[in-house]
Amino acid sequence: MGGTNPYIEKTEYELPRVAYTVTFIAPDGLATKIKVDPAKIPYGPTGLPGSILDVAMGNGVALEHVCGGVCACSTCHVIVKQGIESCNEGTDDEWDQREEARIATLQSLLGCQCVPNGTKDIVVEIPAVNKNLVKEGH
Ligand code: FES
Repeated sequence: MGGTNPYIEKTEYELPRVAYTVTFIAPDGLATKIKVDPAKIPYGPTGLPGSILDVAMGNGVALEHVCGGVCACSTCHVIVKQGIESCNEGTDDEWDQREEARIATLQSLLGCQCVPNGTKDIVVEIPAVNKNLVKEGH
């Protein structure tokens, strides 16, 4: 599922012009390093083009995205361990959703709204506590 959310502020971001890597650290500690090729963006229709979620989905990395990548949940929450300075600024709407994440940190971003500009390699941790209420119930 993908699409856009007409009820949120438009996110400003800059797409990468050079290849860079995103390393995903899964809840079990397994690291998966993905080389992002700007020519392949968008990888699919879900999340902002070139977002952490777009890169994850295009490369077989499991990252929850209950709302379909339109900034209406917090299940795509990631903690950016390295390279956060190359990510776009979040909107107020993103901040509101981020506050719903079970453990929000200063490095917490929504994977569907975070678009790295490619000037740094990125390392993101996928928290074990990201909760998908649709799957898990209340
Ligand atoms: S997938 Fe719902 S906010 Fe990112």
